Amino acid sequence: MTNSDPNRASNLTESPSEPSGQKPLRHWREQQDEQGLYWLALDKADSSANTLAEEVLEELDRLLALAEQLRPRGVIIHSAKANGFIAGADIREFIGQRDVNALHQKLSRGHGVLNRLAGLPMPTVALIHGFCLGGGLELALACRYRIASDDASLGFPEVKLGIHPGLGGTARATRLMPAPAAMELMLTGRSLEARKARKMGLVDVVTLRRHLHTAARRAVLEGLKVRRSGMWANLFNLKPARQSLARILRRKTAEKVRREHYPAPFALIDLWQRYGGSQKRLLEEEARSCAELLTSDTAQNLVRVFFLRERLKSLGKKADFPAHHVHVIGAGVMGGDIAAWCALQGLTVTLQDPYEEQIGSSVGRAAKLFAKRLGKGAALKGALDRLIPDRRGYGLARADVVIEAIVEKLEAKQALFKDIEPKLKPEALLATNTSSIPLDQLGEALADPRRLVGLHFFNPVAKMPLVEVIQSEATDAQAAENARHFTTRIDRLPLPVRSAPGFLVNRALMPYLMEAFTLVEEGIPPAAIDEAAESFGMPMGPIELADSVGLDICLDVGERLADAFGGKVPDKLRELVGQDCKGRKSGQGFYRYENGKPQKPKEKPKADPALADRLILPMLNTCVACLREGVVEDADQVDAGMIFGTGFAPFRGGPMHYLQETGKETLHRRLSELEQTYGERFRPDSGWANL
Ligand code: NAI
Repeated sequence: MTNSDPNRASNLTESPSEPSGQKPLRHWREQQDEQGLYWLALDKADSSANTLAEEVLEELDRLLALAEQLRPRGVIIHSAKANGFIAGADIREFIGQRDVNALHQKLSRGHGVLNRLAGLPMPTVALIHGFCLGGGLELALACRYRIASDDASLGFPEVKLGIHPGLGGTARATRLMPAPAAMELMLTGRSLEARKARKMGLVDVVTLRRHLHTAARRAVLEGLKVRRSGMWANLFNLKPARQSLARILRRKTAEKVRREHYPAPFALIDLWQRYGGSQKRLLEEEARSCAELLTSDTAQNLVRVFFLRERLKSLGKKADFPAHHVHVIGAGVMGGDIAAWCALQGLTVTLQDPYEEQIGSSVGRAAKLFAKRLGKGAALKGALDRLIPDRRGYGLARADVVIEAIVEKLEAKQALFKDIEPKLKPEALLATNTSSIPLDQLGEALADPRRLVGLHFFNPVAKMPLVEVIQSEATDAQAAENARHFTTRIDRLPLPVRSAPGFLVNRALMPYLMEAFTLVEEGIPPAAIDEAAESFGMPMGPIELADSVGLDICLDVGERLADAFGGKVPDKLRELVGQDCKGRKSGQGFYRYENGKPQKPKEKPKADPALADRLILPMLNTCVACLREGVVEDADQVDAGMIFGTGFAPFRGGPMHYLQETGKETLHRRLSELEQTYGERFRPDSGWANL
């Protein structure tokens, strides 16, 4: 039983008026109390969180019909789950949906239920704790009042799945709040914490969880004076305001995403611009627009990405490895940021480096990260207290996890391992962040290499959700499980990878970067190369990416991979590094940097699909090779690794999915043509035959 259980607040009687002959309720519990309040508790069967599955809405419809008959003094909708109110629609119901009409009908049925709720003559209250997202928020918006606990978080994450709100959210949010704020919320998909939501008019009352029921009771019995934006909000829904605001929103959205890749935010702006003047019309049109979006490739692929993420998360749930203390060795770019991230996630962290100033600069960066994520106050202080400078490595003997992130030199790492191994707790996990040295070689320095795993983080750690969890022949299966568990504990996504040069992500990325450098050598302007990749859907072109990672690092990894797999590192790269042009960090790489921004020509070059092929196909080819070699387990894991590790066009569902959708014969043929023209670096891998 949770704090949100109405049984705590009063004596209740099970309603006797459930119409006979109906199926018993699976997901809802309904109770009418002595004061005439009708409490509807959602407790979705067989699920840890509440979602608005079709059956949940059908049952709610029956309950609302009952409320219409019973005429209670008020209807209060709340959740019986401890973690939150309602997490949104049941995304599983979206998979493979391609029939617009069937979906439109389904959404219209949902609209019918929420319209019925909105039309009830008595006060209705959504009693919100924890998350209240997407369809959950739309349901809450159909109630007269929204009362939230101070730990609630509310938002419309639909755009992240390639759709926009489809259960009346567009129409109700733009009436309840000023449309610019409502549109911003829906266009970004960000969540608001309860107090912020109240300031914006989305929530009427914020209170402690334990007071929720009293607050609901009072709202119904005594009435609630609420601030509504009313006239003011509605001004924005008038035609002239809509026209000009829509233009601004469209421009701002286009700065972030392309319509051809992510149509949902643009469809939302179109929808509101055209129909925002009439709530009724907007409600009707929203359902059709949402149905159309849901059947698009983009939405279907983003739904796929959602489940790929869930799959990686689930890989970390098999073990139970309680880690409280992490010791990081090497306070450079990576070690410093890994340490900061672990402290942000609530772990005690000791950070070791022989150089005081390296530790100091890491702590400085950490303080900025903490302030950004935690604001000021106790949480910030707590995180700073958890990050402990430890020049001499005293924390080593107490750590549950030790992460090595010193310079990328075999001898240095081996010497370190020899030195620290006798000091470790017997059950401690030993991890290396190496990006290219085979684990077996590192393990040669250890008396017991079974506990050694790779935890390959990506730069910047706070932004890149993936961690490749590397296992060598020698690694103990339990140690690998523990490493995956630890990765999810620090809110990163673990991808199990076999120890092989470049692992998955760097190996697949390198041919893409090297081809970009070759194109520069051929005289193609960097901006044209980047535009070709971005028009394919990469979040950042290869040239800008290389400049951001650091050209010295690209050269190092490129040379190691060329040693392992053949191929040649373009001279242009070596030349730039030789001139100390290392990219963004040195102010000059392929681009010149001002205030950290690459100076590109004002006029955007026209995207050339032939260039995109030359960049993308070698990357796909390497993914095929990695799959054939068993670097990762299956094609979905390749896709997950590339999306979460490189940002590979999420709306395409991952490289292997893209390959299947476009047709492997077509792409194989194109690669062979490129091989004819440009040579063997384009030769299709033998793995294509097994796809
Ligand atoms: P870095 O050069 O910025 O930092 C290395 C740090 O290790 C320096 O602070 C140095 O003082 C310290 N150090 C050296 N020897 C040490 C020892 N024996 N004991 C304690 N500290 C020692 O290097 P960066 O870029 O942070 O890389 C570290 C590791 O992470 C490397 O293995 C690299 O391959 C890997 N990596 C780097 C990525 C990147 O983008 N920079 C991405 C992913 C992995």
